[in-house]
Amino acid sequence: MAPPAHDAPLAAYQWLLGPEGRQLLDHLADADPLATGLVARLHRELGAERAVVVIEQLRLRRRAKEKFPMAQAMFFTRQRLEQATDWAVACYKAGRFPLGEPWADLCCGLGGDTLGLATRGPGLAVDRDPVACLLAEANLAAAAEFLQRQTPPQKLHPVQVRCQDVFEADLAHAAAWHLDADRRQGARRVYRQSETSLGWQAVERLLQRVPHGAVKLSPMDEPPPEWEARATWEWISRGGHCRQLVAWFGSLAEEPGLRKATRLMPTGPVSFQGSAVPAGEAALGIERFLYEPDPAVLAAGLEYALGDRLNLRPVAPGAVYLTGQEAVEHPLLAGFEVLQVLPFDRRRLQRTLSRGDYRVTEVKKRGVDVSPEALLRKLRKRGSQPVVLVLARVVDRVLAALCRRLDR
Ligand SMILES: C[S@@+](CC[C@H](N)C(=O)[O-])C[C@H]1O[C@@H](n2cnc3c(N)ncnc32)[C@H](O)[C@@H]1O
Repeated sequence: MAPPAHDAPLAAYQWLLGPEGRQLLDHLADADPLATGLVARLHRELGAERAVVVIEQLRLRRRAKEKFPMAQAMFFTRQRLEQATDWAVACYKAGRFPLGEPWADLCCGLGGDTLGLATRGPGLAVDRDPVACLLAEANLAAAAEFLQRQTPPQKLHPVQVRCQDVFEADLAHAAAWHLDADRRQGARRVYRQSETSLGWQAVERLLQRVPHGAVKLSPMDEPPPEWEARATWEWISRGGHCRQLVAWFGSLAEEPGLRKATRLMPTGPVSFQGSAVPAGEAALGIERFLYEPDPAVLAAGLEYALGDRLNLRPVAPGAVYLTGQEAVEHPLLAGFEVLQVLPFDRRRLQRTLSRGDYRVTEVKKRGVDVSPEALLRKLRKRGSQPVVLVLARVVDRVLAALCRRLDR
Protein backbone atom coordinates (compact mmCIF):
# COMPACT_ATOMS: atom_id res chain seq x y z
CA MET A 1 0.00 0.00 0.00
CA ALA A 2 1.30 3.49 -0.85
CA PRO A 3 2.24 5.62 2.19
CA PRO A 4 0.03 8.72 2.56
CA ALA A 5 1.94 11.62 1.03
CA HIS A 6 -0.63 14.40 1.25
CA ASP A 7 -3.28 15.53 3.63
CA ALA A 8 -5.84 16.38 0.96
CA PRO A 9 -7.59 13.73 -1.17
CA LEU A 10 -7.04 13.17 -4.88
CA ALA A 11 -10.32 14.94 -5.77
CA ALA A 12 -9.10 18.19 -4.22
CA TYR A 13 -5.94 18.13 -6.38
CA GLN A 14 -7.99 17.22 -9.47
CA TRP A 15 -10.08 20.32 -8.85
CA LEU A 16 -6.97 22.45 -8.17
CA LEU A 17 -5.39 21.39 -11.46
CA GLY A 18 -8.63 22.02 -13.35
CA PRO A 19 -9.62 25.38 -14.89
CA GLU A 20 -11.26 26.73 -11.71
CA GLY A 21 -8.31 25.95 -9.46
CA ARG A 22 -5.74 27.29 -11.92
CA GLN A 23 -7.66 30.51 -12.46
CA LEU A 24 -7.92 31.06 -8.72
CA LEU A 25 -4.19 30.42 -8.23
CA ASP A 26 -3.33 32.92 -10.98
CA HIS A 27 -5.66 35.45 -9.42
CA LEU A 28 -4.05 34.95 -5.97
CA ALA A 29 -0.45 34.76 -7.25
CA ASP A 30 0.60 37.87 -5.31
CA ALA A 31 -1.63 37.33 -2.27
CA ASP A 32 -0.15 36.61 1.16
CA PRO A 33 -1.09 32.97 1.85
CA LEU A 34 -0.74 33.61 5.59
CA ALA A 35 -3.26 36.47 5.70
CA THR A 36 -6.08 35.39 8.02
CA GLY A 37 -8.67 37.28 5.97
CA LEU A 38 -7.77 35.30 2.84
CA VAL A 39 -7.78 31.95 4.64
CA ALA A 40 -11.20 32.67 6.19
CA ARG A 41 -12.65 33.84 2.87
CA LEU A 42 -11.40 30.78 0.97
CA HIS A 43 -12.81 28.48 3.67
CA ARG A 44 -16.17 30.20 3.40
CA GLU A 45 -16.28 30.23 -0.40
CA LEU A 46 -14.68 26.89 -1.26
CA GLY A 47 -15.06 24.68 1.80
CA ALA A 48 -12.18 23.42 3.95
CA GLU A 49 -10.70 20.82 1.58
CA ARG A 50 -10.30 23.10 -1.43
CA ALA A 51 -9.26 26.07 0.68
CA VAL A 52 -6.45 23.98 2.19
CA VAL A 53 -5.02 22.95 -1.18
CA VAL A 54 -5.17 26.51 -2.53
CA ILE A 55 -3.37 27.99 0.49
CA GLU A 56 -0.85 25.13 0.49
CA GLN A 57 -0.16 25.67 -3.21
CA LEU A 58 0.44 29.41 -2.82
CA ARG A 59 2.95 28.70 -0.04
CA LEU A 60 4.68 25.85 -1.84
CA ARG A 61 5.08 27.78 -5.08
CA ARG A 62 7.00 30.46 -3.17
CA ARG A 63 9.15 27.88 -1.42
CA ALA A 64 9.79 26.03 -4.68
CA LYS A 65 11.39 29.03 -6.42
CA GLU A 66 14.72 27.95 -4.97
CA LYS A 67 14.40 24.63 -6.81
CA PHE A 68 12.55 25.42 -10.02
CA PRO A 69 12.71 28.50 -12.28
CA MET A 70 9.14 27.73 -13.42
CA ALA A 71 7.81 27.14 -9.87
CA GLN A 72 5.07 29.73 -10.23
CA ALA A 73 3.31 27.56 -12.80
CA MET A 74 4.02 24.20 -11.15
CA PHE A 75 2.03 22.09 -8.68
CA PHE A 76 3.33 20.60 -5.45
CA THR A 77 2.52 18.83 -2.25
CA ARG A 78 4.77 19.59 0.70
CA GLN A 79 6.31 16.13 0.83
CA ARG A 80 6.76 15.72 -2.91
CA LEU A 81 8.46 19.14 -3.08
CA GLU A 82 10.90 18.19 -0.31
CA GLN A 83 11.70 14.96 -2.15
CA ALA A 84 12.04 16.52 -5.59
CA THR A 85 15.36 16.86 -7.38
CA ASP A 86 15.81 20.50 -8.33
CA TRP A 87 15.97 21.69 -11.93
CA ALA A 88 19.75 22.32 -11.99
CA VAL A 89 20.62 18.92 -10.53
CA ALA A 90 18.02 17.14 -12.69
CA CYS A 91 19.38 18.70 -15.91
CA TYR A 92 22.95 17.87 -14.90
CA LYS A 93 22.04 14.23 -14.19
CA ALA A 94 20.02 13.94 -17.39
CA GLY A 95 23.20 14.88 -19.28
CA ARG A 96 24.56 11.37 -18.62
CA PHE A 97 21.58 9.73 -20.35
CA PRO A 98 22.00 8.99 -24.07
CA LEU A 99 20.80 11.93 -26.15
CA GLY A 100 17.51 11.34 -27.95
CA GLU A 101 17.08 7.83 -26.52
CA PRO A 102 14.03 6.77 -24.49
CA TRP A 103 14.33 6.55 -20.72
CA ALA A 104 12.13 5.52 -17.78
CA ASP A 105 11.87 7.52 -14.57
CA LEU A 106 10.77 5.05 -11.91
CA CYS A 107 9.19 6.70 -8.84
CA CYS A 108 8.79 10.06 -10.57
CA GLY A 109 7.05 11.90 -7.70
CA LEU A 110 6.06 15.37 -8.88
CA GLY A 111 8.56 15.01 -11.70
CA GLY A 112 11.76 16.76 -10.54
CA ASP A 113 14.01 14.26 -12.31
CA THR A 114 11.47 13.67 -15.07
CA LEU A 115 11.68 17.31 -16.18
CA GLY A 116 15.46 17.08 -16.59
CA LEU A 117 15.24 13.76 -18.44
CA ALA A 118 12.59 15.16 -20.79
CA THR A 119 15.13 17.71 -22.02
CA ARG A 120 17.25 14.76 -23.16
CA GLY A 121 14.86 12.33 -24.86
CA PRO A 122 11.35 10.85 -24.82
CA GLY A 123 10.35 8.86 -21.76
CA LEU A 124 8.06 7.09 -19.39
CA ALA A 125 7.45 8.41 -15.85
CA VAL A 126 6.00 5.99 -13.32
CA ASP A 127 4.63 6.44 -9.83
CA ARG A 128 2.12 4.42 -7.86
CA ASP A 129 0.68 7.54 -6.22
CA PRO A 130 -2.12 9.09 -8.32
CA VAL A 131 -1.53 12.58 -6.88
CA ALA A 132 2.17 12.40 -7.81
CA CYS A 133 1.17 11.42 -11.37
CA LEU A 134 -1.26 14.34 -11.63
CA LEU A 135 1.46 16.73 -10.48
CA ALA A 136 4.08 15.25 -12.82
CA GLU A 137 1.78 15.68 -15.85
CA ALA A 138 1.01 19.28 -14.93
CA ASN A 139 4.66 20.05 -14.21
CA LEU A 140 5.79 18.67 -17.56
CA ALA A 141 3.34 21.06 -19.23
CA ALA A 142 4.60 23.97 -17.08
CA ALA A 143 8.23 23.18 -17.94
CA ALA A 144 7.42 22.84 -21.66
CA GLU A 145 5.81 26.28 -21.63
CA PHE A 146 8.72 27.78 -19.69
CA LEU A 147 11.28 26.35 -22.13
CA GLN A 148 9.23 27.52 -25.09
CA ARG A 149 9.58 31.10 -23.80
CA GLN A 150 13.40 30.91 -23.52
CA THR A 151 15.66 32.48 -26.12
CA PRO A 152 16.22 30.48 -28.20
CA PRO A 153 13.07 28.44 -27.46
CA GLN A 154 13.72 24.90 -26.24
CA LYS A 155 11.56 21.81 -26.41
CA LEU A 156 10.73 18.98 -24.05
CA HIS A 157 10.50 15.50 -25.50
CA PRO A 158 7.17 13.67 -25.10
CA VAL A 159 6.68 11.83 -21.79
CA GLN A 160 3.99 9.32 -20.81
CA VAL A 161 3.08 9.40 -17.12
CA ARG A 162 1.70 6.11 -15.76
CA CYS A 163 0.23 5.43 -12.37
CA GLN A 164 1.62 1.98 -11.61
CA ASP A 165 4.15 0.07 -9.56
CA VAL A 166 7.76 0.22 -10.70
CA PHE A 167 7.72 -3.50 -11.51
CA GLU A 168 4.68 -3.17 -13.75
CA ALA A 169 6.49 -0.56 -15.89
CA ASP A 170 7.21 -1.52 -19.48
CA LEU A 171 10.97 -1.05 -19.90
CA ALA A 172 11.12 -2.72 -23.31
CA HIS A 173 12.01 0.54 -25.05
CA ALA A 174 14.03 2.21 -22.29
CA ALA A 175 17.72 2.70 -23.07
CA ALA A 176 18.28 3.57 -19.39
CA TRP A 177 16.27 4.15 -16.22
CA HIS A 178 16.34 6.34 -13.13
CA LEU A 179 15.08 5.19 -9.73
CA ASP A 180 14.31 7.32 -6.69
CA ALA A 181 12.59 5.25 -4.02
CA ASP A 182 10.75 6.78 -1.09
CA ARG A 183 13.08 7.55 1.79
CA ARG A 184 10.12 7.90 4.16
CA GLN A 185 8.45 5.11 5.99
CA GLY A 186 5.30 6.87 7.21
CA ALA A 187 6.56 9.72 9.40
CA ARG A 188 10.04 8.20 9.70
CA ARG A 189 12.83 9.33 7.36
CA VAL A 190 15.48 6.84 6.35
CA TYR A 191 18.69 7.53 4.48
CA ARG A 192 19.87 4.12 3.39
CA GLN A 193 18.69 2.62 0.11
CA SER A 194 18.42 -0.73 1.92
CA GLU A 195 15.73 0.81 4.19
CA THR A 196 13.69 2.44 1.41
CA SER A 197 10.49 1.10 -0.11
CA LEU A 198 12.66 -0.35 -2.92
CA GLY A 199 15.98 -1.69 -1.60
CA TRP A 200 19.05 -3.00 -3.43
CA GLN A 201 17.19 -6.16 -4.45
CA ALA A 202 14.85 -3.98 -6.49
CA VAL A 203 17.88 -2.34 -8.12
CA GLU A 204 19.23 -5.80 -8.98
CA ARG A 205 15.91 -6.78 -10.56
CA LEU A 206 15.86 -3.60 -12.65
CA LEU A 207 19.45 -4.06 -13.78
CA GLN A 208 18.57 -7.55 -14.99
CA ARG A 209 15.90 -6.00 -17.22
CA VAL A 210 17.92 -2.98 -18.44
CA PRO A 211 21.58 -2.86 -17.32
CA HIS A 212 21.93 0.94 -17.65
CA GLY A 213 20.47 2.86 -14.74
CA ALA A 214 20.87 5.56 -12.12
CA VAL A 215 19.78 5.29 -8.49
CA LYS A 216 19.26 8.50 -6.53
CA LEU A 217 20.36 8.04 -2.92
CA SER A 218 20.56 10.17 0.18
CA PRO A 219 23.91 12.05 0.35
CA MET A 220 24.37 10.41 3.76
CA ASP A 221 24.17 6.91 2.31
CA GLU A 222 27.32 4.90 1.63
CA PRO A 223 27.93 2.43 -1.19
CA PRO A 224 27.35 -1.04 0.31
CA PRO A 225 30.64 -3.04 0.01
CA GLU A 226 29.05 -5.67 -2.24
CA TRP A 227 27.85 -2.94 -4.65
CA GLU A 228 30.83 -0.58 -4.52
CA ALA A 229 32.68 -2.00 -7.53
CA ARG A 230 29.54 -2.14 -9.68
CA ALA A 231 28.76 1.57 -10.04
CA THR A 232 30.25 5.04 -10.28
CA TRP A 233 29.24 6.91 -7.11
CA GLU A 234 28.69 10.62 -7.54
CA TRP A 235 27.88 13.08 -4.75
CA ILE A 236 26.39 16.31 -6.10
CA SER A 237 26.37 19.66 -4.31
CA ARG A 238 24.66 22.92 -5.18
CA GLY A 239 24.44 26.15 -3.19
CA GLY A 240 26.71 24.90 -0.38
CA HIS A 241 24.78 21.68 0.32
CA CYS A 242 25.34 18.14 -0.82
CA ARG A 243 22.00 17.37 -2.48
CA GLN A 244 22.25 13.72 -3.43
CA LEU A 245 24.35 10.69 -4.16
CA VAL A 246 23.80 8.97 -7.49
CA ALA A 247 24.89 5.42 -8.27
CA TRP A 248 25.44 5.13 -12.02
CA PHE A 249 25.28 1.66 -13.61
CA GLY A 250 26.09 0.16 -17.01
CA SER A 251 26.85 2.65 -19.77
CA LEU A 252 25.90 5.55 -17.45
CA ALA A 253 28.85 4.73 -15.17
CA GLU A 254 32.21 6.24 -16.07
CA GLU A 255 34.32 3.69 -14.27
CA PRO A 256 32.92 1.11 -11.87
CA GLY A 257 34.09 1.71 -8.30
CA LEU A 258 34.95 5.36 -8.95
CA ARG A 259 33.94 8.02 -6.40
CA LYS A 260 33.19 11.44 -7.73
CA ALA A 261 32.31 14.75 -6.06
CA THR A 262 30.59 17.35 -8.24
CA ARG A 263 29.76 20.93 -7.41
CA LEU A 264 27.18 22.58 -9.65
CA MET A 265 28.22 26.20 -10.09
CA PRO A 266 26.49 28.91 -12.12
CA THR A 267 29.38 28.58 -14.57
CA GLY A 268 28.95 24.78 -14.86
CA PRO A 269 29.82 21.60 -12.99
CA VAL A 270 33.24 20.99 -11.40
CA SER A 271 34.20 17.47 -10.37
CA PHE A 272 36.96 15.69 -8.53
CA GLN A 273 37.23 11.93 -8.64
CA GLY A 274 39.33 9.29 -7.00
CA SER A 275 39.28 6.77 -4.19
CA ALA A 276 38.74 7.52 -0.52
CA VAL A 277 42.25 7.45 0.92
CA PRO A 278 43.14 7.63 4.62
CA ALA A 279 44.54 10.91 5.95
CA GLY A 280 48.25 11.28 5.41
CA GLU A 281 50.57 13.06 7.82
CA ALA A 282 48.72 15.82 9.71
CA ALA A 283 50.06 19.36 10.11
CA LEU A 284 49.18 19.36 13.85
CA GLY A 285 48.41 23.03 13.60
CA ILE A 286 47.12 25.71 11.26
CA GLU A 287 49.49 27.05 8.60
CA ARG A 288 49.24 30.18 6.46
CA PHE A 289 46.23 29.00 4.50
CA LEU A 290 43.22 26.99 5.63
CA TYR A 291 40.77 25.15 3.37
CA GLU A 292 37.33 23.66 3.81
CA PRO A 293 36.38 21.04 1.22
CA ASP A 294 33.04 21.31 -0.59
CA PRO A 295 30.19 19.31 1.03
CA ALA A 296 30.19 16.90 -1.95
CA VAL A 297 33.91 16.18 -1.42
CA LEU A 298 33.31 15.52 2.27
CA ALA A 299 30.29 13.29 1.65
CA ALA A 300 32.34 11.34 -0.92
CA GLY A 301 35.20 10.93 1.59
CA LEU A 302 37.55 12.49 -0.98
CA GLU A 303 38.98 15.30 1.17
CA TYR A 304 42.36 13.66 1.72
CA ALA A 305 42.66 12.58 -1.92
CA LEU A 306 42.01 16.21 -2.93
CA GLY A 307 44.42 17.44 -0.23
CA ASP A 308 47.15 15.09 -1.48
CA ARG A 309 46.63 16.35 -5.02
CA LEU A 310 47.06 19.97 -3.90
CA ASN A 311 49.83 19.42 -1.34
CA LEU A 312 47.61 20.20 1.62
CA ARG A 313 47.57 18.38 4.95
CA PRO A 314 44.73 17.89 7.43
CA VAL A 315 45.17 20.19 10.45
CA ALA A 316 44.99 17.09 12.68
CA PRO A 317 44.56 13.32 12.18
CA GLY A 318 41.01 12.75 10.91
CA ALA A 319 40.25 16.49 10.64
CA VAL A 320 38.20 17.96 7.80
CA TYR A 321 40.08 21.26 7.45
CA LEU A 322 43.18 21.19 5.25
CA THR A 323 46.11 23.54 5.60
CA GLY A 324 49.27 24.56 3.77
CA GLN A 325 51.89 27.30 3.41
CA GLU A 326 50.97 28.09 -0.19
CA ALA A 327 47.75 29.54 -1.52
CA VAL A 328 45.91 27.13 -3.81
CA GLU A 329 42.76 27.76 -5.79
CA HIS A 330 40.23 25.03 -6.40
CA PRO A 331 36.46 25.36 -6.93
CA LEU A 332 35.92 22.44 -4.55
CA LEU A 333 37.70 24.21 -1.69
CA ALA A 334 36.70 27.30 0.28
CA GLY A 335 40.03 29.00 1.05
CA PHE A 336 41.06 31.27 3.90
CA GLU A 337 44.22 33.27 4.49
CA VAL A 338 45.08 32.91 8.17
CA LEU A 339 45.81 36.24 9.88
CA GLN A 340 46.20 35.01 13.43
CA VAL A 341 45.82 31.75 15.40
CA LEU A 342 45.18 31.51 19.13
CA PRO A 343 43.82 28.94 21.56
CA PHE A 344 40.03 29.20 21.69
CA ASP A 345 39.10 31.21 24.79
CA ARG A 346 36.26 33.73 24.58
CA ARG A 347 37.87 36.50 26.62
CA ARG A 348 41.21 36.17 24.93
CA LEU A 349 39.48 36.13 21.57
CA GLN A 350 37.58 39.35 22.36
CA ARG A 351 40.83 41.07 23.38
CA THR A 352 42.54 39.96 20.17
CA LEU A 353 39.62 41.22 18.11
CA SER A 354 39.76 44.64 19.78
CA ARG A 355 43.52 44.92 19.45
CA GLY A 356 43.49 43.96 15.75
CA ASP A 357 40.39 46.10 15.00
CA TYR A 358 38.73 42.94 13.70
CA ARG A 359 35.01 42.39 13.13
CA VAL A 360 33.84 38.75 12.93
CA THR A 361 31.38 38.30 10.04
CA GLU A 362 31.11 34.53 10.08
CA VAL A 363 31.97 31.65 12.42
CA LYS A 364 32.88 28.23 11.04
CA LYS A 365 33.66 25.17 13.09
CA ARG A 366 34.39 21.48 12.78
CA GLY A 367 34.67 18.98 15.60
CA VAL A 368 33.94 21.64 18.22
CA ASP A 369 30.79 21.73 20.34
CA VAL A 370 29.92 25.42 19.83
CA SER A 371 26.91 27.03 18.15
CA PRO A 372 28.38 29.31 15.44
CA GLU A 373 25.24 31.53 15.47
CA ALA A 374 25.29 31.96 19.26
CA LEU A 375 29.04 32.67 19.28
CA LEU A 376 28.73 35.19 16.44
CA ARG A 377 26.04 37.07 18.40
CA LYS A 378 28.38 37.39 21.39
CA LEU A 379 31.46 38.54 19.48
CA ARG A 380 32.62 42.05 18.72
CA LYS A 381 30.53 43.77 16.05
CA ARG A 382 32.82 46.77 15.52
CA GLY A 383 36.16 46.83 13.73
CA SER A 384 37.42 47.91 10.34
CA GLN A 385 38.75 44.49 9.32
CA PRO A 386 36.11 41.86 8.55
CA VAL A 387 37.32 38.36 9.47
CA VAL A 388 35.99 34.81 9.41
CA LEU A 389 36.55 32.96 12.68
CA VAL A 390 37.37 29.28 12.13
CA LEU A 391 37.38 26.93 15.11
CA ALA A 392 39.26 23.69 14.57
CA ARG A 393 40.05 20.84 16.94
CA VAL A 394 43.71 19.94 16.72
CA VAL A 395 44.12 16.78 18.80
CA ASP A 396 43.24 17.90 22.36
CA ARG A 397 43.15 21.69 21.72
CA VAL A 398 40.65 23.92 20.00
CA LEU A 399 42.30 26.57 17.87
CA ALA A 400 40.67 29.81 16.78
CA ALA A 401 41.92 31.16 13.45
CA LEU A 402 41.07 34.68 12.32
CA CYS A 403 40.99 34.52 8.56
CA ARG A 404 40.33 36.42 5.40
CA ARG A 405 38.21 34.55 2.88
CA LEU A 406 39.93 33.96 -0.45
CA ASP A 407 37.69 34.43 -3.46
CA ARG A 408 36.09 31.22 -4.69
C1 LIG B 1 11.46 10.44 -3.50
S1 LIG B 1 9.97 10.50 -4.42
C2 LIG B 1 10.54 10.77 -6.05
C3 LIG B 1 10.99 12.18 -6.30
C4 LIG B 1 11.33 12.47 -7.74
N1 LIG B 1 12.55 11.82 -8.17
C5 LIG B 1 11.45 13.96 -8.00
O1 LIG B 1 12.55 14.43 -8.30
O2 LIG B 1 10.44 14.66 -7.93
C6 LIG B 1 9.57 8.82 -4.38
C7 LIG B 1 8.30 8.42 -5.12
O3 LIG B 1 8.31 6.99 -5.23
C8 LIG B 1 6.99 6.53 -5.30
N2 LIG B 1 7.05 5.07 -5.07
C9 LIG B 1 7.54 4.42 -3.99
N3 LIG B 1 7.50 3.09 -4.18
C10 LIG B 1 6.99 2.89 -5.41
C11 LIG B 1 6.72 1.73 -6.20
N4 LIG B 1 6.95 0.52 -5.73
N5 LIG B 1 6.24 1.88 -7.44
C12 LIG B 1 5.97 3.14 -7.92
N6 LIG B 1 6.19 4.26 -7.23
C13 LIG B 1 6.70 4.15 -5.99
C14 LIG B 1 6.28 7.38 -4.26
O4 LIG B 1 4.89 7.42 -4.50
C15 LIG B 1 6.98 8.74 -4.43
O5 LIG B 1 6.23 9.60 -5.26
